Amino acid sequence: MKLLVCGGAGFIGSTFVRQRVEAGDEVVVLDKLTYAGRRENLQDVEHVFVHGAIEDPEAVAGAMAGVGAVVNFAAETHVDRSIAEPDAFVRTHAVGTFVLLEAARERGLRYLQVSTDEVYGSIEEGSFTEESPLRPSSPYSATKTGADLLVQSYAHTYDMPAVICRGSNNYGPRQYPEKLIPLIVLNAIHGDPLPVYGDGMQVRNWIHARDFSSAIAHVLQHGVPGEVYNAGGPDECPNIDVVRRVIELTGRDESLIEYVTDRPGHDRRYSLSSDKVRALGWEPQVRFDEGLAETVDWFRDNAWWWEPIRSGAYREYYARQYGRELSA
Ligand code: NAD
Ligand code: DAU
Repeated sequence: MKLLVCGGAGFIGSTFVRQRVEAGDEVVVLDKLTYAGRRENLQDVEHVFVHGAIEDPEAVAGAMAGVGAVVNFAAETHVDRSIAEPDAFVRTHAVGTFVLLEAARERGLRYLQVSTDEVYGSIEEGSFTEESPLRPSSPYSATKTGADLLVQSYAHTYDMPAVICRGSNNYGPRQYPEKLIPLIVLNAIHGDPLPVYGDGMQVRNWIHARDFSSAIAHVLQHGVPGEVYNAGGPDECPNIDVVRRVIELTGRDESLIEYVTDRPGHDRRYSLSSDKVRALGWEPQVRFDEGLAETVDWFRDNAWWWEPIRSGAYREYYARQYGRELSA
């Protein structure tokens, strides 16, 4: 199968592309190369690369020529950035998804929208199913929810073979170090403070990016058009415990922990029930302890990947976000 993977130069998109190429698929990647998109993420993977935005109909038409299905990872993905500067989130999630849907519909293509557990909001106890109400709380999750609703409207109104796969918090190699795990790992390696928002007792449902990628491939192949499938990881963990595990894995001590001002509107807990996709035959393979240790090793061994980030514009983002400089 020849696939168009939008946002394939990012963290999860590149993991998915690597898996699909290893499985024998041909892949075209369409990516705008925002700060989070990097050609380095795919330097070892055979693919055709198109530099362009999903909100640009001409770029989309060119990239879609001859493909059999479209998988859309392209997004602005960091909640803190959506709070500070929501504009790009609206453009990419609303206009970009619309342009992709129109182009896929015109060509009769199967379409998979990559989405997130954040569309359901926060849950104190139990887990969200696909039937849970949508209660997004940040500009990131609200615009992702809008995109999901547009996809569902195309499946319903035009009978388009479109499916949605909603993942929980991903982690693994090549994740941009604005997100909790890579940020904490790199700061620990450098002996920088480890910023913990609020009381650190927010809970996330961690899934390795390889597992989320395999769920997406599974839903693309076996999912029923018009349906939504949740793919959550096997383990939940409060943030402060994630930080403590990273401290152990990097041989640091707890004096590096720094409690900082909480994120506005911070969701307390995410938890997904994945029964529906499990019934299609998918299972996550990586437990959090094992995946976290592997991820710490990857960052330790791949300084070539993060050195250009830590020495560039990311430093300005970090200073703005945390009110302090990173060490060299
Ligand atoms: P990422 O930020 O690492 O990568 C996003 C990619 O999209 C980058 O390559 C970027 O250049 C590209 N992009 C952004 N705007 C674009 C546009 N307008 N046109 C074309 N390309 C554009 O993101 P990620 O963490 O890999 O997330 C990928 C997808 O998975 C997103 O849709 C996200 O909402 C979803 N998701 C992420 C997580 C997570 O924990 N990271 C969990 C569940 C779902
Ligand atoms: O749940 C899926 C979502 O997971 C994805 O849809 C998003 O794209 C992805 O960014 C992620 O959102 P979170 O907000 O949960 O991830 P983040 O890594 O930003 O934060 C994880 C938790 O850690 C959250 O409770 C906030 C906290 N945190 C984060 C940072 C960056 C800290 O305590 N300190 C930090 O410095």
